[in-house]
Amino acid sequence: MPSKSESCAVLTAAGSGSRLCCEGPKALVELSGRPLVWWAARGLRAGGVGAIVVTAPASSIEEFRSALSDIDDLTVVAGSDRSRQESVALGLAALGRCEADTVVLVHDAARPLTPPQVTERVIDAVAGGAGAVIPVLPVTDTLKTVDASGVVVGTPRRSDMVAVQTPQGFRWDVLIRAHEEGASLGADEARAATDDAGLVEAIGGSVQTVAGDERSMKVTRPLDLALAQILVAEETSA
Ligand code: CTP
Ligand code: MG
Repeated sequence: MPSKSESCAVLTAAGSGSRLCCEGPKALVELSGRPLVWWAARGLRAGGVGAIVVTAPASSIEEFRSALSDIDDLTVVAGSDRSRQESVALGLAALGRCEADTVVLVHDAARPLTPPQVTERVIDAVAGGAGAVIPVLPVTDTLKTVDASGVVVGTPRRSDMVAVQTPQGFRWDVLIRAHEEGASLGADEARAATDDAGLVEAIGGSVQTVAGDERSMKVTRPLDLALAQILVAEETSA
């Protein structure tokens, strides 16, 4: 169990990566010889995070343990094959009971290159009194809402919108209550929350934003992986 002053994290890595079209779990896809989940865990640690629980696909636990064996204070547990939300809930249970004001982060292994400064900003904002904190970037595309047949029904003002990244940070008691109250949604990815802050919003909690970073991009499709490979090559040659 992390001490009161130390933050902890759930690192979600139990997805299959169906949009990336690779063999095996997406989090084990390599960048410069190390899997995405290793880069993500290393980045969290560099940002000051203590205990880390990684949620892996149940059939690949041993592969994840061996890929992450050089990172200390890290535990690999089985995530859910039903939804990301349920994987986070399993990761929180594995962290064990924490003090109400412990800072807990939830981060996606699909964001391997999050700069430590983003993690620090999130931790500092929660330690400074916010119940929930998310890193965000301005939106560059125009966004529209559409109906079931694809007809546009609205154009929200772009300046009112932000793109949301991880790690998201929370007071322990806030995140636990949000997950408990939203648990029934987790059985189905289509109904589940796509981020943890959404569960906090659903219980009426306030969510603060801090600046995200372009390098914290999510590896979802093949083009994203190509970009991540370029960014890692730049970093390792610098
Ligand atoms: N995730 C998880 N458990 C699930 C689904 C997703 O832990 N049941 C994790 C993924 O491993 C990833 C993060 O949640 O680190 C964000 O999900 P996403 O980028 O959608 O990854 P996948 O679900 O693996 O990809 P896809 O949706 O293309 O199948
Ligand atoms: Mg997914």
